[in-house]
Amino acid sequence: MSSEAMLDLVERPRRLRRTAGLRAMVRETHLRPEDFIAPLFVVDGKPAPEEIASMPGVFRLNIKDLVKECRALSKLGVRAVALFPKMDSKLKDAEGTAALDEDGLILRAVRAVKQALPELAVVTDVALDPYTSHGHDGVLTDIADDVDNDRTVAILSEMAVLQAEAGVDIVAPSDMMDGRIGAIREALDAHDFADTAIMAYSAKFNSAYYGPFRDAVGSAKAAGTNTLSKATYQLDPANRRMAINEAALDEEEGADFIMVKPAGAYLDIIRELRDATTKPVAAYQVSGEYSQIHAAAKLGWLDLEKIRHESLLAIKRAGADLILTYFAKDMAKLLK
Ligand code: PBG
Repeated sequence: MSSEAMLDLVERPRRLRRTAGLRAMVRETHLRPEDFIAPLFVVDGKPAPEEIASMPGVFRLNIKDLVKECRALSKLGVRAVALFPKMDSKLKDAEGTAALDEDGLILRAVRAVKQALPELAVVTDVALDPYTSHGHDGVLTDIADDVDNDRTVAILSEMAVLQAEAGVDIVAPSDMMDGRIGAIREALDAHDFADTAIMAYSAKFNSAYYGPFRDAVGSAKAAGTNTLSKATYQLDPANRRMAINEAALDEEEGADFIMVKPAGAYLDIIRELRDATTKPVAAYQVSGEYSQIHAAAKLGWLDLEKIRHESLLAIKRAGADLILTYFAKDMAKLLK
């Protein structure tokens, strides 16, 4: 810097960015393998892993392969997995009856994983969409004009108890019915599962980013082809205050974790809730966020590894303590 051009500055923030060592010293956010929860899809029978077309690198696994995958994740330092069933369409009906089958796919999967890896935390979804023929998260009213809130909550409570019996550490209601956290807490306690935690999908938005997931579990029907959309229960993406209200209610009703979903387009909500609650905040980087990054990388338009890292760093910086992400394994490998 020639002295005649020198500005009279007291502070020069660039001083701390001069070398890689200095930049590392002042870095505020760090990703660790234990930040991630890996969502995994499970199928019945013994099929070979089936890749989900819109989610490169994500497979539906049979129970044996699921256990193998869980072991690999655990070795890499990931502490939790979230399991989602892909049900045979023959088992689906309007009431989602298969959700309460005591020998159902997800319960068998939970038992297998917990038996092989007792230390790995298992999270299960509490919602009816993988089980209903119409793809909604609950059962419908008599005239099928809406999801019946209170009847759905009763079923979800039973579902949560079955999952607790199978050994899950955390049940995660993703249905967005009113009052479900309180009802599920009460049901768990009444059945002696006071130690089973609840991760509430508190701020779950009615998002177009769930598209690839609905392909993965076969619940696409309710996404828009139906006259009845999920907009009557999932949050309007335009609403911030309503998200805060939902989280406050879930906390009052006994939620142990508060979740925001999707993550990347809702960083403001993550920050709001991180500041509003003392509970751990989880954020779900959903299927569409994952697919978008892969698609752009495939076209050669974005750098997969860099965008992956930046997207997750942003979610953590916004305030997420935990991130559900399909990149969990890739990231854990990288960070190990
Ligand atoms: C529904 C559920 C959805 C996801 C997790 N649980 C989709 C929906 O509401 O239709 C989406 C996850 C993802 O997109 O990765 N219970």
